[in-house]
Amino acid sequence: MSSSSEPPPPAAAEQHLRQQLVAAARRLGASGLNQGTAGNLSVRWGEGLLITPSSLPSEAMEPEDLLAIDCDGHPLAQAAPGRSPSSEWRLHADVLRSRPEVAAVVHSHSIHATALACHGRDIPPFHYMVVQAGGPDIRCAGYATFGSQELSDLTLAALQDRQACLLAHHGQVTVGASLAQALALAVEVETLAHMYLQALQLGEPPLLSLTEMERVAAQMQLRRYGALAAGPATGAGAVG
Ligand code: 13P
Repeated sequence: MSSSSEPPPPAAAEQHLRQQLVAAARRLGASGLNQGTAGNLSVRWGEGLLITPSSLPSEAMEPEDLLAIDCDGHPLAQAAPGRSPSSEWRLHADVLRSRPEVAAVVHSHSIHATALACHGRDIPPFHYMVVQAGGPDIRCAGYATFGSQELSDLTLAALQDRQACLLAHHGQVTVGASLAQALALAVEVETLAHMYLQALQLGEPPLLSLTEMERVAAQMQLRRYGALAAGPATGAGAVG
């Protein structure tokens, strides 16, 4: 007889993770951060990952539509008929392979982040909350065709020492120690991009110094600012 304190068996854990990923994809759609078939999400799963399918709107997505693949793109389980992994599986797999602390990757085409990215603009330290992405700025990766290895390489470089980056002429990517954290950061990046675009209406805003951004980072660490609101620090985390 099993007690409620025992860890769930792997099949139940996988089903739980699939449900969490679908809920997160739907939330991105409902909050306006994604639309149609734009964007994709993944969570670390064993030696590989669970990833959203290509070309399927989030509102039509069900847990069984997700794909379990290894970090070279090989299937770890049979896919549902007609389903293939997101075209950005390389980007997701490369981030998870090279960043052991990362458990989830979220990619969206959110409007304001994408508008800045169309100009190839980084988000500079115009606001102290930029620190939430891991440093004094949020870099914009150079452009490469969606789904390409080159885009994955550019993204990995822009994510160096960061949990978020913009993708030129494309969108944004966030990572987290949990799905909830990666999702919360995607919302934060979109908000910061919106604020920065508004601030730019009056000209280039003055920036906070690197010393002040370090002070903010220390203060956030001291207060565990943002981390508690974003859910548990490891695993997929709750998104509901
Ligand atoms: P997928 O539907 O293949 O995930 O592609 C959407 C996307 O946003 C590509 O960058």
